[in-house]
Amino acid sequence: MPHSEFWTERTVAWYARAVARSDFAPRVLAVIGPALDECKSALDVGAGCGALALPLARRMGWVTAVEPSAAMARALREAAARAGLGGVTVIEAAWGEVPVERHDLVVCAHVGGLLNADSPFLADAKRLARRLVVLIRDAPRPEDQDKFFYRELYPALLGRPYEHRSHADETLGGLRALGMAPRVTLCEYSSDQPFIDLEEACDFWMTYMGLQGSGPRAYLEGFLRERLLSASGELIAPFRKTAAVFVWSPAEAQASGPGDGLPY
Ligand SMILES: C[S@@+](CC[C@H](N)C(=O)[O-])C[C@H]1O[C@@H](n2cnc3c(N)ncnc32)[C@H](O)[C@@H]1O
Repeated sequence: MPHSEFWTERTVAWYARAVARSDFAPRVLAVIGPALDECKSALDVGAGCGALALPLARRMGWVTAVEPSAAMARALREAAARAGLGGVTVIEAAWGEVPVERHDLVVCAHVGGLLNADSPFLADAKRLARRLVVLIRDAPRPEDQDKFFYRELYPALLGRPYEHRSHADETLGGLRALGMAPRVTLCEYSSDQPFIDLEEACDFWMTYMGLQGSGPRAYLEGFLRERLLSASGELIAPFRKTAAVFVWSPAEAQASGPGDGLPY
């Protein structure tokens, strides 16, 4: 399935429920630190349903969210309205499709294609940020928990291993090639996925793994019955993640020297 078609009302609702119980935003905001106090406006590229856009809007008032998925954009608009955050503007477009003004902070989290070393977005972020660029990319470590049990489920149901390596060093290389020497911090957070019941959990894995038919579903049912945790009437797939947070300010010479790599 092309990635653009992946986000539907249902997949967005799953994503939003994981975001709602996650400590991702407070941990990222803590990593950014007091520099955030100087920012009065933020541009969140690939904002999704607002994991960072909404907390940033609460903090600084004005957020422009660029988000191409209609289902994600709708969820973000609705969540902003529910929270009474009138300063959130959602531009329903992919990066590069519409002109965007400069903002104090430019943030982009978990949008792999835009954060590759050769992505033109990196230079755009440098140009469009008055005070701060914050980029966030998965940086899974060997000791991290398996994403959605994929290390076991991929070989069993798709006949291939699951490979989830960190691409954060590529982002760092791309930024350095542009003369940006960001502060890099590894940030651990929880991204547990809740489900109402086992049937919904099976729907989730069938969708995420692109599976069809009663055989894979029966396998998942047996597997997930053993692995999901019960808590407060929900079933939980526990997931602790690590992300690399790149913070760069046009005004400051950053500490990281040209020979430094990721901090692990
Ligand atoms: C995994 S979600 C991350 C959402 C949010 N940033 C977060 O951290 O929760 C990736 C989002 O990037 C959006 N996206 C993908 N390609 C994009 C592009 N070229 N320009 C802008 N957004 C994009 C997707 O529609 C999706 O909402």
